Amino acid sequence: MRQVIYLDSVDSTNSRLKQIAGTVPNGTAVIADLQTAGRGRLGRNWLSRPGDGAWFSVLVKDERLTPENAGGLVFCCALAAADVLKEISGREILIKWPNDLVLNGKKLCGILCESGYNGGRLDWAVCGIGINLNAESFPPDLPYAASLRMETGIVSDCRKVALDTLDKFDTYAQMLYNQGLNSLIDLISPISATLGREVRAVNGEKELTGVAERLLPDGSLLIATADGPVSVRAGEVSVRGLYGYI
Ligand code: BTN
Repeated sequence: MRQVIYLDSVDSTNSRLKQIAGTVPNGTAVIADLQTAGRGRLGRNWLSRPGDGAWFSVLVKDERLTPENAGGLVFCCALAAADVLKEISGREILIKWPNDLVLNGKKLCGILCESGYNGGRLDWAVCGIGINLNAESFPPDLPYAASLRMETGIVSDCRKVALDTLDKFDTYAQMLYNQGLNSLIDLISPISATLGREVRAVNGEKELTGVAERLLPDGSLLIATADGPVSVRAGEVSVRGLYGYI
């Protein structure tokens, strides 16, 4: 049985779970109606208004979690949320490498996985998922954001979507531990919004462009550039389509 902590309001479900990671069991989840300081990748904010979506995080403290497979947790989250959104809508949900879910070229979901070491050993990971479900609009500074409701008309139960995603996350995490990261890559590649497209990868001042070719066994993305193949690691780069978001 999973321990689930429901909160009306919190700064960030990731931050809260990180604070209590030492005292709660593996699999503990925090689900909030509202985040006052929701966090995105690369220091961005995540808009988390009440009723508009599922904002939640899960703690992974499993002895099978290693520095080698921890990068696969973001794929477990993406596959889990894509499954749930597909079940609700009947629509194929695409995964924009490494951590966005996309429908009609718009971003429905983002994932932020963080981890901590203790004495050189990977001690815990917190995986946070934000799924835009019922929002009717987004501010103009988020031109690529959309909700499932905006794209399909479907209104969802935010807590149920979170719980269903957490169940599927567990299944994919077992797959990661038992069969390795490659087994997840085999599932992600056919529903990738990134592979085969011309992309721009930005890491601070550094930038490269090329065609996204394939995912490598460690989960990084291989980009064919004019100067040859270059692999980029999730967590370090922002990848955008050359002509828009994907
Ligand atoms: C991104 O696309 O940049 C990642 C967004 C991750 C948002 C989720 S919402 C639940 C969890 N708590 C946070 O503060 N962030 C993640």
